[in-house]
Parts: sequence; C-alpha cells; structure tokens
Amino acid sequence: MRAACRALRKAGKRLGFVPTMGALHDGHFSLVRAARNSCEGVAVSIFVNPTQFGPNEDLAKYPRTFDRDREMLKKEGINLLFAPSAEEMYPPGGVTWVTVEGLSEKLDGRSRPGHFRGVTTIIAKLFHIIEPDVAFFGQKDAAQLAVIRQMARNLNFAVEIVACPIVREPDGLAMSSRNRYLDPAQRKQALILHRSLTRVKALWEAGERDAARLAAAGKEEIQKESAVRLDYFEIVNPDTLDAISTASDGALVAVAAFVGSTRLIDNILL
Ligand code: PAF
Repeated sequence: MRAACRALRKAGKRLGFVPTMGALHDGHFSLVRAARNSCEGVAVSIFVNPTQFGPNEDLAKYPRTFDRDREMLKKEGINLLFAPSAEEMYPPGGVTWVTVEGLSEKLDGRSRPGHFRGVTTIIAKLFHIIEPDVAFFGQKDAAQLAVIRQMARNLNFAVEIVACPIVREPDGLAMSSRNRYLDPAQRKQALILHRSLTRVKALWEAGERDAARLAAAGKEEIQKESAVRLDYFEIVNPDTLDAISTASDGALVAVAAFVGSTRLIDNILL
C-alpha cells in the first residue's frame, strides 16, 4: 500500500485519503467525492478497527459489507482501496499507542473510555502507511474530528484535515452505518436527535445565547421520546470540546443518545 501510494504521489498526484470502517453510505461517498474534487489520487481504507471498540460495544456485530463497498468505490473511480486484516494492522507485540490527552476524555470519549485512543492510534498508523496530502472526515463525528486535528498538529503530520458536512436522510436522520441496527419503530424514534438540534437552532436564531438554556431545551426535546436514552447533550467549543456559557457563532451543539441498544450521535454548528 505504501509503495502504491508513493507511486501515485511520485506521478505528481495530490493524494486524498478517506478512512472508513466500511458499511458505506452516502455520508462516506460525499467524502470520496470531496477527495476526488480536490485531489488527483484518492485512497480509501476499510478497516473495522478493534481498538476503538469497548468490551461491551458492537465490534462483533458491526456491519461488514465488503464486496458491495468495493464495487461502489470502484464506480466512484477511486485509485486505491486498502482493506487490511486486524492481524496485519495489529501484529503481536504492539505496545505503542497514540493518545491525545484531555480531548480524548470529552463528549464521546467520556462515554466510551479508550475509544479515541483506538481512533488516533489507527489513524496515525494509516497516515504513516498512506502518507496522504489531504484526509477527509465527516463532521458527524465532531469530537473525533477535533481529536484527529489535534493529533495531526501535535505530531507534525504533513496532512491537511478536511471536514465534510453531515449527510442526512430526507427526514433529517444523520446517515450512519449504525442506522441499519434500527427497527422501523426505532428508526422513527431516532429522529428526535435531529429534532432536538433543530429546536436549539431555532431558539438560537430567535436570539437566545445562553448555552445552559439552549442545552436544556435540547434535552427537554429528547425527553419527549421516552424510548430514547440521552447520553449527552452539550454546547461546546468545536476545537477544545469545552463547555461554553455563551453560544457564539460556530459553537458545536452535540448530542448522543441510545435508541434501544444503538448509540447514535448528531450535531450542528451554530
Ligand atoms: O469514523 C470512522 O469511521 C472511524 O472512527 C475511523 C476514522 C475510520 C477510524 O477507524
């Protein structure tokens, strides 16, 4: 993979990279298209990274649709697909981790201890193998984005990190590989995440700037769907992930909630 990536870059192609865990949907394809629009070469990885899953999380049942994903990526016209095995990425003896301290314990990191250490370790490994000029990540994983940006800065990776907007279903549900766990009733209940964000946005547009009051309104909306269990609803600085008291332009409103046993996340930038 490293040789193939270097050959592309040697041929003068700016190399764009889209890391994924497969089970691809239109959110992923928007990243691939953004990469194709700004880079002459595009590499995609499909790797369900075991180290970012907690012991009671969904690693074993995470959707794996490799043949379909590969066909669709071929149609998108990518140059390289990297789909290593867990044994190749984590051979015995691996004792080195990449940890972004502080940021990794906020939002999803607080609810999923060790999750971001797994993400930053695999992304650092993939960056070393692929050596991309640009890497594309979805805004849906807003905390992941902040953590990866910080890692790339701190470790001097020569890669530009580009965030792409959330892609939604027509009814507002943010696209996610985990949406396929939802049964039809849960699929409807899941819409409350987007509705809670829409309510906050409407209040903000009407002039409310008090972050506590805005967050309270978002939480109140989530409570209307009794089958949905809130994990967090926070208004934070999108770079530091620290809570803010006044919701200024660009503040991140982020929500995570369980619909049945499926944990979903969504967010907006004010
Ligand atoms: O967002 C994801 O799909 C994963 O966290 C990533 C960035 C591919 C790392 O495994």
